[in-house]
Amino acid sequence: MRTVYINGEFLPENEARVSIFDRAFLFGDGIYEVTSVLDGKLVDFPGHMARLHRSLKELDMPFSLTDQDLLDIHRELVALNGIDEGLVYMQVTRGVADRDFLFPAKDTANTVVLFTQKKALTAKPIADLALKVITAEDLRWRRADIKTVQLLYPSMVKTMAKKAGADDGWLVRDGFVTEGSSNNAYIVTRDGTIVTRDLSTDILHGITRHAVLECARDLQMKVEERPFTVEEAKNAREAFITSATSFVSPVVEIDGVVIGEGTAGPVAAKLREIYIERSRQAAQ
Ligand code: PDD
Repeated sequence: MRTVYINGEFLPENEARVSIFDRAFLFGDGIYEVTSVLDGKLVDFPGHMARLHRSLKELDMPFSLTDQDLLDIHRELVALNGIDEGLVYMQVTRGVADRDFLFPAKDTANTVVLFTQKKALTAKPIADLALKVITAEDLRWRRADIKTVQLLYPSMVKTMAKKAGADDGWLVRDGFVTEGSSNNAYIVTRDGTIVTRDLSTDILHGITRHAVLECARDLQMKVEERPFTVEEAKNAREAFITSATSFVSPVVEIDGVVIGEGTAGPVAAKLREIYIERSRQAAQ
């Protein structure tokens, strides 16, 4: 059984309890971060903390734990659960208050929950990671840049994709791809340029995205941050996604159209290799 963290305590997972009046339960009034673990260490923890603070600020959510407190809790949980490879999920909610649309007038104590998931992140050869995606209208609220726990639509899209025999969905607004259901989306054009949507309120500002684009630029690859259409994606030489749990994973089919050779492309393979290498070195 896992040990989880809840509001200052490390407990067996079946003993952790959250109130039915928690605002995340009633209003989706909570935010989260997912940090990957390699060799028992946290990948890009400062990046996840920076984004957590941004989400807190955008939602005007008070929060009192320091980054050092959160680092200590993450590390303790990784050690208690013997995680060599996997992830740490952290959720922070506005806390408990009687049901009212207004944010509570008096600051409530946050609910802070963390748990781990063991997952083999690096063992599979890239050929086994090849994904088929379908496209779906991006019907999420217009603040996809805030990492809230309101994940019902992405969950519906992923389930739709599975039913259609694919692995995931790419979301589309006005004909342009925003991002994947739980990852950022990229194509490699016929002239070898990596294209991914520019940062705005339309997409989550991926921590892996930031690091992978830095790898690409260091490798002298050409990068363009701009929207791309579904048509452009279908004609691309390569496509791939990034996230804390998939790192860099190739996309080989979009709406049944085979991309490039239909196998993991060289740009995705190179970026995956370099990203994992750098992440191992910098993990803390
Ligand atoms: N998802 N876009 C969306 C909509 C996401 O949910 C995620 C992450 C990303 C990639 O962000 P990062 O590189 O920081 O993981 C982009 C996490 C992994 C999840 O919900 O499980």
